[in-house]
Amino acid sequence: MASVRTEALTKRFGSITALRDVSLEIADGEFFAVLGPPGAGKTTLLRTIIGLETPDGGDVFVDEERITETYPGDRDIAIMFQNLALYPDKTVYGNLAFPLKQARVPRREIRRRIEETAVKLHIERLLERKPAKLSGGERQRVALGRALVREPRAMLLDEPLSALDALLRLEMRSELKRLQRDLGRTLIYVTHDQVEAMTMPDRVAVLREGEVQQVGRPEEIYHRPSSHFVASVIGSPPMNLIPAVVESANGRLRVVHDQFVVEALAPVERLSAGGSCYIGIRPEDVHLSSGEGFAGRVYATEPLGGETVVDVTIGGRIIKLITAGASGLSQDAPVRVTFDASRLHLFDADGTTVLSSAGDGSLLRVKDAGRT
Ligand SMILES: Nc1ncnc2c1ncn2[C@@H]1O[C@H](COP(=O)(O)OP(=O)(O)OP(=O)(O)O)[C@@H](O)[C@H]1O
Ligand SMILES: [Mg+2]
Repeated sequence: MASVRTEALTKRFGSITALRDVSLEIADGEFFAVLGPPGAGKTTLLRTIIGLETPDGGDVFVDEERITETYPGDRDIAIMFQNLALYPDKTVYGNLAFPLKQARVPRREIRRRIEETAVKLHIERLLERKPAKLSGGERQRVALGRALVREPRAMLLDEPLSALDALLRLEMRSELKRLQRDLGRTLIYVTHDQVEAMTMPDRVAVLREGEVQQVGRPEEIYHRPSSHFVASVIGSPPMNLIPAVVESANGRLRVVHDQFVVEALAPVERLSAGGSCYIGIRPEDVHLSSGEGFAGRVYATEPLGGETVVDVTIGGRIIKLITAGASGLSQDAPVRVTFDASRLHLFDADGTTVLSSAGDGSLLRVKDAGRT
């Protein structure tokens, strides 16, 4: 087990900068996720850490030992690639044994490690089968086993669950989390799935176009996103973003939209009068109301069984909200909604967060534009 650190890693492919000044510190035994949209540089980051790509700048350290120029096979880090390819002609046992034979591990030790790994992954009964005779989930476990069996200092997994169907994915999510906890092995887990990034790791780094946007515990990133990009990649459905105009009244900041006004009750920097900005609110913090609230109409409903996502048109803009159970609302029905002011976010015109109330109701107030 080991800590992993990258220092200002930069990697270019011709005119594309796949990684730009990426500095991350992953603690010994940590479950660390890297979240980002396609092309963000996630795979390149893993390939650079393991040594399959040479960085144009920066360094990689394992346990504070600089390994930037170390041969990949000598780094003692295992990787499970995005397109998990098992050897089709080898049995599960053969697949697991392969990396160990390459590392010249003695035969008896190979057997011991494979048996131990197989028990952990519940694949003891599959050892003599060929990959073609395995289910998707079983294949996934074997691929994982191949990374685990080497007992590496750290493991890198590149979207390991992306090839699975929804149900299996759900099952593997909790199994993988348990497994990592049980093994206490340092794990860097790449995903573009916001649910995985929210539910599995100790911490997440959000990557965009090769740059780290934010690093923190999932709930920190959820409640205090550093930008509306980060706010939109974590949480489902994503945060509502409502364009508004900044007004300054009596030295206090007011943000105005056709239907409502958001007043900052604390000083807010970096927003100037007349400029544009965004109000952000998550769907679960918008509530249907039978009394006060902003008037809107139901645009569509998405019943999910336990809850319903309701799209409401307010001032020509669709705002999503989540309500428990069935909404009982039909299309075009008039409704009123309220915002939980203690869960509002303000972003400047560039999308950088200027204020997240994150449970603190004393920071912002929402009013109906008609009544101010
Ligand atoms: N070998 C290469 N040659 C040229 N460009 C590359 C190469 N590898 C990656 N890139 C480019 O670098 C950028 C980052 O790619 P990378 O594969 O790291 O993204 P990713 O975040 O893993 O995406 P995905 O979610 O689709 O797997 C992309 O613009 C990609 O086209
Ligand atoms: Mg990738």
